[in-house]
Amino acid sequence: MDRIESWLQTQDIDLRKRSRPLVSLCYAQSLDGSLTQQHGVPLALSGSESQILTHRLRASHDAILVGIGTVLADDPQLTVRHVAGKNPQPIVLDSRLRMPLDTSLLSRHPLKPWIATTHLSDLQRRHELMAVGARLLLCEPDARGCVSLVSLLQKLAEMQVKTLMVEGGAATLTSFLVERLADRAVVTIAPRFVGGLPMINRQLFAPVYSMVQAGFPRLLQTGYDACGEDLIVWGDIDYGE
Ligand SMILES: NC(=O)c1ccc[n+]([C@@H]2O[C@H](COP(=O)([O-])OP(=O)(O)OC[C@H]3O[C@@H](n4cnc5c(N)ncnc54)[C@H](OP(=O)(O)O)[C@@H]3O)[C@@H](O)[C@H]2O)c1
Repeated sequence: MDRIESWLQTQDIDLRKRSRPLVSLCYAQSLDGSLTQQHGVPLALSGSESQILTHRLRASHDAILVGIGTVLADDPQLTVRHVAGKNPQPIVLDSRLRMPLDTSLLSRHPLKPWIATTHLSDLQRRHELMAVGARLLLCEPDARGCVSLVSLLQKLAEMQVKTLMVEGGAATLTSFLVERLADRAVVTIAPRFVGGLPMINRQLFAPVYSMVQAGFPRLLQTGYDACGEDLIVWGDIDYGE
């Protein structure tokens, strides 16, 4: 764990040079690359040691982001409750403001979530979410009408967010890769075959990356460590420009 954390800390997070936060993809998958067995049914893939690592990773980032699909499926807390440290600011990608008002993030988290949405979202719904404490980040829509990640990262940099941990789910992780906005990854691999929801959303990924192997995003400076019964793989993401 110490090797991963010191590697995370060696990275340059000077916003004056970078103009956007440093983005880390941190998620757990099975041996076959599944994030869960069935969409909408939470599955604790990683062991207790890896869960502690995840909480330490959370504590080392300024903010943590998930897509609304994950909130609707898992109702995550996104806190660092298993370790001592600071909770990162939770952020949810939610262009249509589907976030239920009684989610853990709105009702139990000590920091109220920031909801990244677009200028096209419903005004009445914005007011309802703000009334229960959410802060809305109005971003440009992308070509699909989703939240433009470039626009969101610009906004976060202006708000002095230097490091952003992206925890999932599949569409969100894939969007960061497709848009080449993820800088590094820490992947927990649980030694199980699950045959469920693939980490890569093929619909988003396939049109962008060709079948030429050299063109796929990959890890450089890769590190490997055992963590309980899981394997942790980490490194800088290289897009093979
Ligand atoms: N194993 C793990 O580490 C892990 C971690 C997290 C989640 N998960 C699993 O992942 C599953 C959810 O994955 P998912 O792919 O369905 O959902 P997701 O990635 O959590 O959320 C995707 C949704 O976010 C919204 N969104 C807004 N802007 C976006 C953008 N630029 N790019 C991508 N999404 C954007 C879209 O909904 P709107 O169009 O409504 O805005 C989109 O459908 C759950 O089953 C959960 O258990 C596993």
